[in-house]
Amino acid sequence: MGYFIDEQVDSTWRPGLRDARGLDCSTGSVRAVEAVETALHAMLSYFGDPLAALDEAIAADPGWSLPQSLKASLLLTSSEFEPARQARDILAAAPAPRNAREQAHHAAAQAAAEGDWALACRRWEATLIHSPRDVAALLFAHLFDFYRGDTLNLKRRPQRVLPAWSPEMPFYGFVLGMYAFGLEESGHYAQAEDVGHAALAINRRDPWAVHAVAHVHEMQGQHEEGARWLASRQPDWAVDNGFAFHNWFHAALFQMEGLDTAAALQTYDTHLACATEMALQRVDGTAVLWRLKLLGVDVSDRFDDLRRTWVPQAPSAGFYAFNDLHALIAHIGAGVTPETSEGLTSLQEAMADFDSSGASNRRMSAELGLPLAQAFLDYANGNWDSAAEGLLRVRDGAHGFGGSHAQRDILTLTLMDAAIRARRADLAGHILNERCPEKAGTPMTLHWRRRISAMH
Ligand SMILES: [Fe+2]
Repeated sequence: MGYFIDEQVDSTWRPGLRDARGLDCSTGSVRAVEAVETALHAMLSYFGDPLAALDEAIAADPGWSLPQSLKASLLLTSSEFEPARQARDILAAAPAPRNAREQAHHAAAQAAAEGDWALACRRWEATLIHSPRDVAALLFAHLFDFYRGDTLNLKRRPQRVLPAWSPEMPFYGFVLGMYAFGLEESGHYAQAEDVGHAALAINRRDPWAVHAVAHVHEMQGQHEEGARWLASRQPDWAVDNGFAFHNWFHAALFQMEGLDTAAALQTYDTHLACATEMALQRVDGTAVLWRLKLLGVDVSDRFDDLRRTWVPQAPSAGFYAFNDLHALIAHIGAGVTPETSEGLTSLQEAMADFDSSGASNRRMSAELGLPLAQAFLDYANGNWDSAAEGLLRVRDGAHGFGGSHAQRDILTLTLMDAAIRARRADLAGHILNERCPEKAGTPMTLHWRRRISAMH
């Protein structure tokens, strides 16, 4: 890969050893630099084990801080307490960074570990100003832009660094994949599709770029094209890939948009019910089941299994409001209430325990998580009008607790269902109009229109 050769670890760094994109590395170990390269590929592609590769880099040069900062940041992207605790331990024991870029990585990881995700993104951005080909800084900032609902920077951050890249550079395609997703979330669907395809022309096995194009189809009501897209690319994203669960979630969305609830249920049973290890996976499983429930499918037994995989007590809950809301939805879907389940009460308490939250989650829980939890509890208790009003009050700002437009559509669908049950055809129809023109003719939209019409 064109490194300067130095077989021995040199504890006093000297300039010269560079990674495959020309960035200074304050290590004398070629093996460590190569292991970080392997880790970066695994992080960007979701193929392989990035933590194992980073451990290899750390073993090759325990005095090099960068792989330790990367490991901490990677653990923090899980959006869960226990990996975050591990990240804090790693940072506390990490060696001192030896150059400005590595200092910035350490500081960004530290901010993320302390729960200030906005500050972490500003620190990764500071790295990108000087080192726009620092793909790790870009990836972490991109993921935390997603968690923070910073749509503008999902697009602009890759946009700002792209002029410093060229197609022959390793990982260029992955930068295009991130840019494609940012374009899609910003509503630039045609450009997003083009950039996503350009990313895949460089590297077919880029599940994030496949995912960006799937979002383009989702947002435009192209459920049949979207399903065909995912099916045609399935060998590239579905086998032994750490992101496969989320593309299966999108496959289920396409099936539900076509009102093929049996197929969506099968997708859940085959690919999502078994994927409950990570909160991000449980979010997607919960979301599919809730949408099926809104479409009239009895999934309460499945919800009962799923809600047991969410541990409602702190310290598992209270880390990220977006996850917590889905945990609450899983409990409600299983038919439990605060009266019948201490878990639900614990969950609410954990969401409101601002002492254990970082600054970013404190804001998200206070402004969105708790009001939305109340709206869903109103829904669970049959207080349809309160549920609709509660969702209406905060839904427009709900991008502030992250997720994609497609994921947050669960709020809109629930609002319409609550409005119909509250006999408020005007409100339900008003909200349904948002699906026009992109989704005006889909079976899902026609289903909602029929329900509203039936009220007159
Ligand atoms: Fe997605």
